[in-house]
Amino acid sequence: MKKAIILTLGLILFISSGMTNAVFADDNDSDDKKNILNVAHRGASGHAPEHTLPSYALGEKMGGDYIEIDLQMTKDGHLIAMHDETLDRTTNGQGLVKDHTLAQIKELDAGSWFNEKYPEYAKPEYEGLQVPTLDEVLKEFGPEAQYYIETKSPEVYPGMEEKLLETLEKHGLIGEEVPSDQVLIQSFSPASLQKLHNLNPDLSLVQLLWYTNPATITNAELETYKQYAMGLGMNHSQIDQTYVEKVRSHGFEIHPYTVNEKEDMKKLIDWGVTGMFTNFPDRLEEVIATSGEDDDKEEE
Ligand code: G3P
Ligand code: CA
Repeated sequence: MKKAIILTLGLILFISSGMTNAVFADDNDSDDKKNILNVAHRGASGHAPEHTLPSYALGEKMGGDYIEIDLQMTKDGHLIAMHDETLDRTTNGQGLVKDHTLAQIKELDAGSWFNEKYPEYAKPEYEGLQVPTLDEVLKEFGPEAQYYIETKSPEVYPGMEEKLLETLEKHGLIGEEVPSDQVLIQSFSPASLQKLHNLNPDLSLVQLLWYTNPATITNAELETYKQYAMGLGMNHSQIDQTYVEKVRSHGFEIHPYTVNEKEDMKKLIDWGVTGMFTNFPDRLEEVIATSGEDDDKEEE
């Protein structure tokens, strides 16, 4: 009789612990889907002129977790927020950034092009916006905001990495007391990331990758990136679930770019990505809010 009671109790414990694990596993899955990083790509650049203070502010307002900033460097050594090496596309200026001083670039209009190209999103206040420096962006949004900063064309700008770290330090964004995910630094250039890693091994670095065909990645490549990077970013249209699972199984964060359609966002979240870059952080916010609902319903 005593033996039967012990066996019954053991069976109850076994079943309930298995059920508990199952619930936790499903909860984690559902939680993971809600913890996707929403990276406001060049700010909320689907709604406002990219890499301007209003675009970054809108990105935060629309639910972006990170302000994404591409860096170029002026002739007199200032880091500015701009995607292209030239001024032509996003200002009324012309020529290479590296051939212009900050004072010259500050004279330019970085907003009117957007009003002309996207009349449905145009606003009078976008006219005459200035190109911000990294220093100005960090001052504006402060040490509580999260930044996802890209060293663009680092081979064109010797000293870019040192200047970046100096600027982050100035704003209290580097140091033991700063959460490791407060600032993520990304680049297509392994050399730039390796340099940053050598300058400060505690930095959180993301290797960007470019594929023109369906992406594959070898264990050897992953091991190389593992030496300095905690995450990988790649164009979303070239990857599949197998790719995502392989990258994650090696312990990387995976943040595809640039995902603007809700259907793509949902698909990537189901595949297991841990964040993504988007010009429409409001859309991603909506998708994340309903992510995991199917999992939750299955549980009920
Ligand atoms: O940094 C992620 C993504 O922004 C890379 O592409 O050309 O928009 O900087 P790009
Ligand atoms: Ca970028």
